[in-house]
Formats: sequence, structure tokens, C-alpha cells
Amino acid sequence: PEVSTPPSVVAVSQYACQRRTTTENHNKTLTDAFEVLAENYEFNEMEGQCLAFRRAASVLKSLSWQVRSSHQVHDLPCLGETMEELVEEILQYGRSFEVAKILSDERFQTLKGFTSVFGVGLKTAEKWYRRGLRTFPDVMAEPSIRLNRMQQSGFLHYGDISRHVSKAEALALGNIIDEAVHAIAPNGILTLTGGFRRGKEFGHDVDFIVTTPERGQEEGLLTNIIKHLKHQGILLFCDFQPSSFDLSKLPSHRFEAMDHFAKCFLILKLEGHQVEGGLCRAEGDSRDWRAVRVDLVSPPLDRFAFTLLGWTGSRQFERDLRRFARLERRMLLDNHALFDKTKNEFLAATSEKDIFAHLGLEYIEPWQRNA
Ligand code: CTP
Ligand code: MN
Ligand code: MN
Ligand code: MN
Repeated sequence: PEVSTPPSVVAVSQYACQRRTTTENHNKTLTDAFEVLAENYEFNEMEGQCLAFRRAASVLKSLSWQVRSSHQVHDLPCLGETMEELVEEILQYGRSFEVAKILSDERFQTLKGFTSVFGVGLKTAEKWYRRGLRTFPDVMAEPSIRLNRMQQSGFLHYGDISRHVSKAEALALGNIIDEAVHAIAPNGILTLTGGFRRGKEFGHDVDFIVTTPERGQEEGLLTNIIKHLKHQGILLFCDFQPSSFDLSKLPSHRFEAMDHFAKCFLILKLEGHQVEGGLCRAEGDSRDWRAVRVDLVSPPLDRFAFTLLGWTGSRQFERDLRRFARLERRMLLDNHALFDKTKNEFLAATSEKDIFAHLGLEYIEPWQRNA
């Protein structure tokens, strides 16, 4: 058996943006358990507890060694006494009683199922649960429920879009979008972002940024890409959100999680011959295509670096970047800009490295942001 000695002398930061977290997770049993607890707190609207468990899971993900005794987590940030006890229970019995209870809980299972449908958020899932609905057929059979367009597509393509997307499929989609971009704008710029940019082998969707060097042309680019995909007959669903980004209003703007750039949430039809090694499909599925979720966001070029940093994720990495900026640097960071409250000015950036430098952070590569 391999012996791994934790490098306990190396202090682990409480901020994910000061840790390097690859896709290699040496503590998956622990982090899976912590994430179930976090999700259950989210379902019960206990945001503080939810965040505490997400942070703890994220710290465990960053370790280059496997935790073998609860004493080893004692000096880690974000893991208090209850979490240490939880680690001890899992290490001793291979599972946690509380986690097992949650996983078999009817409300948890139902909310998990409903929220896994594209277009169904927690509020809707709870509403359905309170009405006594427990399964997808229950929802379909309920005459008083009117599904919106997104939810209809979510149910229609559920089998396909709940299946993971492979790297080969992501590359194939990249080629399709790239062709569309360059058919419209020869100097258009397409960049892969999200989980695949972080080096993940699988994702729930594929995320891209599209922009052009000409100022103010990016929104037209996005609507034309959508038209192009529609023309090709591969657009199964499109929710286009026009830009609500206003440069003149920026200084007084509240910094929020959601960005204001033009974007679209798509479902595209991907054909088997387009994918090297073939499609990820269910056993016995003989179709030569599958539906895939694709997100496109289109910032003006001078905001590209902020958008790239914001959409590369992970969500936990982004949360901690913003928290670090606010608490340690008195700066406000979001997908559009970085504002220095001390100097009362915006800090420009043409690359992610610029933004890390403004924040006084060591640069963290995309594949080290799987916090
Ligand atoms: N994001 C965002 N604004 C949105 C949607 C997403 O800023 N309207 C950011 C998220 O914060 C996340 C990144 O874009 O950091 C990618 O989001 P998502 O596709 O949901 O997650 P991934 O990390 O790509 O993971 P997955 O493989 O499951 O898609
Ligand atoms: Mn290792
Ligand atoms: Mn993604
Ligand atoms: Mn996405």
C-alpha cells in the first residue's frame, strides 16, 4: 500500500484562488459527502451552512494527498469540529449516517430530480413538490402546470442532456460554432471556456465566448450565429438574452453574480459522424445524433479577459476570487470589470494574468481552478 505523508508544513489558504486544484481529487468520498450536505442545505434555504460545506469540500479537493485520519484535517481552513467528526465517521465506517439519510429522503430525491431538468429551478421544484408531485409523469399529468419553453425542451431532451458531454463532443461543437462564427465574421474570435477549459474530461454543457475586434458588433455576431445554426437545422432550442450592459452606467452599477453581456442558452443537435470516436449515447439508442447543451456569451473585446475569467469557473473559484478581492483588496470583481474602491477607479485588463496581477495574486492556470 502506498504511503502518503501530508505536507502539513504547507499552509492551505482559505481562498480557492490561492490554491491549485486540478481535476484529480484524492478525497472524492469525503467531498461527495460534503456536497450532498451542501445541496441539502441549499434545498432547505440554509445558505450559510450550504456555503460552509461547499468551502470545506473545496479545501479537501485541493489537497495533493488523501486524508487518512481526521487529525489531518485539524489544521485545514474552513473545516471546524463538526466537519472533523464527519470526516472521522466516513473514514471509520466508509459512509456518513446523515448523508445516507438525506440520499434516501423523498423530498431531497424529488427536488434533485426536478432541478436536474433544464429550466427548472429550486423555486419551481419546490412548488411542484408541495403540490404532491414526485415524478416526471406526475408533472406531465398535472393539468394546472404550464411549462415554459425552456422546461418543455428540458423534458423533451432530458435523456440526452442529462448525459455527460465528452471532450470529443465538445471539440466537435467547437468546430461547428467556429464555422458559424467565421462564416459571419472572418476576424471573429471563438474561445472555449467553462469546465472543458479547466481540463475536465466530461461536462454537462459546452461554454464558449464569441467576440469581434470591431466595437459594438458582438451582439449582432451572436444573433447571426443563431440564425446560421437554425439554417443548418441543428438548433433544437434557443434562449437569447440581449445585452443589458451599459458602459455609461458602470460606476454606479451594483456588482452582481449574473453578467449583462448578450448570451444564449442553446440545445444543439450533434451528429455522430462529426465526433471522433462517436457520440456518448444510452445503451440501445440507435439514433446517429444527440442533443447537447451549449452556452455562448458575447462581451465587447475590451471586457474579454473579465468574461473569460468569470466563465472559466469553477463556481467556487469565482466566489472566492470575488470574496478575496472584496475582503483582502477592497476591490470589486465581476464578469465585466475590476473596480478599486481605494483609488476609486476601474482597472483595465487584456488578459487573465493582468487581473491576477491587479489583485496581487499568483497566477492560477485554468486547469488549477477546479475548486
Ligand atoms: N457563469 C456565469 N454566468 C452565467 C452562467 C455561467 O458567470 N449566466 C459562469 C459560472 O459561474 C461558471 C462558468 O460560467 O463558473 C461555467 O458554468 P457552467 O457551465 O454552469 O459550469 P462548468 O464549470 O462549465 O461545469 P459543467 O461541466 O457542469 O458545465
Ligand atoms: Mn497527486
Ligand atoms: Mn459548462
Ligand atoms: Mn454553462
